[in-house]
Amino acid sequence: MKITAKGNPREKKQELGQFLTSSTVAKFMASMFGPLPRTIRLLDAGAGAGALTLAFVSQCCENRGEVIAIEATSYELDEEILDALGATMCECERRCSESGIRFAFTIHSTDFIQEMSSCLVGDLFSTKPPAFDVAIVNPPYRKINTESVERRSLRSIGVETSNLYTGFIAMIHRLLVPGGQLVGITPRSFCNGPYFRPFREDFLNHLELRRLHVFESRKAAFRDDCVLQENIIFHAVKGYYQPSEIVVSSSSGEQGDNITEKIFSFAEIVHPNDAEKFIHIPSNTGHAAAKEIMDGLSGSLSSLGVTVSTGRVVDFRLRDNLRKEPERGTVPLLYPCHFNGGTVQWPKLVARKPNAILDNAETRPWLVPSGMYLLVKRFTSKEERRRIVACVFDPDQVKAEWVGFENHLNYFHANGQGLERHLAMGLYAFLNSTVVDQYFRRFSGHTQVNATDLRMLTYPDLDTLQGMGLEMTSLDLTQDEIDKLVSKGLHACR
Ligand SMILES: C[S@@+](CC[C@H](N)C(=O)[O-])C[C@H]1O[C@@H](n2cnc3c(N)ncnc32)[C@H](O)[C@@H]1O
Repeated sequence: MKITAKGNPREKKQELGQFLTSSTVAKFMASMFGPLPRTIRLLDAGAGAGALTLAFVSQCCENRGEVIAIEATSYELDEEILDALGATMCECERRCSESGIRFAFTIHSTDFIQEMSSCLVGDLFSTKPPAFDVAIVNPPYRKINTESVERRSLRSIGVETSNLYTGFIAMIHRLLVPGGQLVGITPRSFCNGPYFRPFREDFLNHLELRRLHVFESRKAAFRDDCVLQENIIFHAVKGYYQPSEIVVSSSSGEQGDNITEKIFSFAEIVHPNDAEKFIHIPSNTGHAAAKEIMDGLSGSLSSLGVTVSTGRVVDFRLRDNLRKEPERGTVPLLYPCHFNGGTVQWPKLVARKPNAILDNAETRPWLVPSGMYLLVKRFTSKEERRRIVACVFDPDQVKAEWVGFENHLNYFHANGQGLERHLAMGLYAFLNSTVVDQYFRRFSGHTQVNATDLRMLTYPDLDTLQGMGLEMTSLDLTQDEIDKLVSKGLHACR
């Protein structure tokens, strides 16, 4: 049975965060559970047409073990998919009866977040929340803004999160019995980034991570639905002590493809001293080598006297002050489109973006005094050659007293001023190196390159960076030349 949500209008699908799991991925997820209890209370929240419940039930039927009964509970808001969900439950019933497993199911066509938060709030009027031994889930993905009903419901039980999928996961682990298991497929975005920090903490405080699986291609898991999220599958157990080791696997996502698997110490996945609790996923050998090198560096941005910030000019807020071309009373305004190899091309009149911003009382607080800055793009994708793309803003090249860096850029500075020239050049080489790129890919699960991500990297010490800067004869180096220069610099500082 193949049911897609393609018949739904696009907006409805987006509103519901509806991306259906392929049977190959569902089967793979069902195979990830550890030993199961004899009677299983199963939860599928945001069940769609029931692909995940069907895969789980089929797995139990084929590989029955001790299981004698399954009680399946599904939550699904989309009325148009309920018939398909009902039909899938009947199919589960049939398979179980053939295998001698008792099967019962309940479909709730209600809002999972609202219904469960009112149970979990635990006041005099709330009903007791249900308990589950197993949950298999592909939750809906959608941003939820601060004042939305979902956000308020989640807040009522102490969960502060900005996406529906993290809200679902936070809710689900509260419904699991101790030792209960969860296999979920979600965007990888929760693994880093400041917005997901409270969620990561909540997740790691209540769930013991046992396995992580990533796909090599962003299109793999939901090809039918053109999802361009990077996805991750995790297996976790309700409990309070992380294991010493965890399995990390990866595959292309194609049917019958090879799955590569490796065991890592948990400390490699979540670094014990990392206050941000980033979840690193080393899925290739380059990632492992990069970690070794980065772990050997003792410097931090603050020890270098350097800060990284997000570009301060939010263009739509200062719209009236923007100019396509420089004119009297304006200063340069830099966007990612001005990146030109290692340096900037400014002005760039063929680009659609403005090149200048008026320098006046309204805009001055968002400008910085001209100087030597290192700029890094804030959005790059997994498919690009490098995730961290840095270039140098050189005041000798772009003459101005003040300059505006737009919000799609991060900029490295020294307490709001430009950087010393050789330090800026050394940072340029280091940040554009393959080592940093590979390290970044271990933990970054989305297209953003946050200032926090750049802040939490380890850095070479000042002398080493300045030494690298001195060696930079030009900003027009090949990747190979950059890597050689950085490798030589790091070797010398050991
Ligand atoms: C990403 S889809 C996954 C569907 C199915 N689990 C699968 O893997 O094929 C998420 C599902 O959650 C449903 N959904 C969205 N918001 C919901 C809510 N608040 N309560 C219950 N279901 C919801 C959507 O209609 C959609 O079918």
